[in-house]
Amino acid sequence: MDAIYHIPAMLKETIEGLNIKPEGTYVDVTFGGGGHSRAILGHLGDRGHLYSLDQDADALQNAIADERWTFVHSNFRYLSNWMDYYGVEQIDGLLADLGVSFHHFDCPERGFSFRHSAPLDMRMNQTAKRTAADIVNSYSEEELAKILYLYGELKNGRGIAKNICRARSQQAIERTEDLVAASRIPQEMSKELARLFQALRIEVNDELGALREMLVAARDLLKPGGRIAILTYHSLEDRLVKNFLRSGNLEGEIEKDFYGNNLSPFTLIEKGRTACAEEVESNPRSRSAKLRIAEKR
Ligand SMILES: C[S@@+](CC[C@H](N)C(=O)[O-])C[C@H]1O[C@@H](n2cnc3c(N)ncnc32)[C@H](O)[C@@H]1O
Repeated sequence: MDAIYHIPAMLKETIEGLNIKPEGTYVDVTFGGGGHSRAILGHLGDRGHLYSLDQDADALQNAIADERWTFVHSNFRYLSNWMDYYGVEQIDGLLADLGVSFHHFDCPERGFSFRHSAPLDMRMNQTAKRTAADIVNSYSEEELAKILYLYGELKNGRGIAKNICRARSQQAIERTEDLVAASRIPQEMSKELARLFQALRIEVNDELGALREMLVAARDLLKPGGRIAILTYHSLEDRLVKNFLRSGNLEGEIEKDFYGNNLSPFTLIEKGRTACAEEVESNPRSRSAKLRIAEKR
């Protein structure tokens, strides 16, 4: 087991914002190290229940011995199927702390970090078929450029995709260091390299597709007065969550009635809160976190 599997961002703010009802049913769709889940359980009474999902079986290292807790090893895109399976029709609150955990970056062999030599893997679900190596070796130059530009916000996505395609025509790109060399991004440009790896990770794990499906399921499962809290870590997922919580739909279109009243199913509680300076200093990885919370009307 890792010394530190994960340090949850904005723990206090997230738990307070969920306004937990002791007898309620809650879902943490990104269990990870279990920091948020443990805090939710701490606010539940004997009749409350928490379901925690994670697609990475490694998270089970952090299992909680508590009758009020159920772990589900699954992608959160199947949230509504799992709630059906457990006979849960409605929930009082849901938390999603998106992306990867410290554990993923700190396990060199998982291939998430450009700082370690490892197979180019990046699957959060280790039983999934497609790895990052499969993507860099099989996608067209155009497809790679699109991913790098959209998911990595790399302005030079086209140029980097071209370099990757030129390198792979000589030899397949199998390892993290092969990708770094193929991209021709200099080692000292660590921000660019982090963006390159982020873009591929998002594609490997279809992070935005899963997020879209989960948001719709969460909206439909939440009771009136129930709350959804989401921590995002990059602008693309944050924009998606922001628009969804404002409008209640994936298109981000705000429906209005005849009198011009907003018909969104949500009332916004937190609109993109960031970690305070003290937290960022003690946990630098909380720097990019944004907390959004909404209450179902
Ligand atoms: C930022 S960590 C969560 C940390 C957690 N809040 C804690 O207190 O330790 C994100 C976790 O969510 C999982 N995850 C990411 N996307 C997922 C998805 N689509 N379905 C299920 N689990 C997912 C990752 O495997 C990772 O363990």
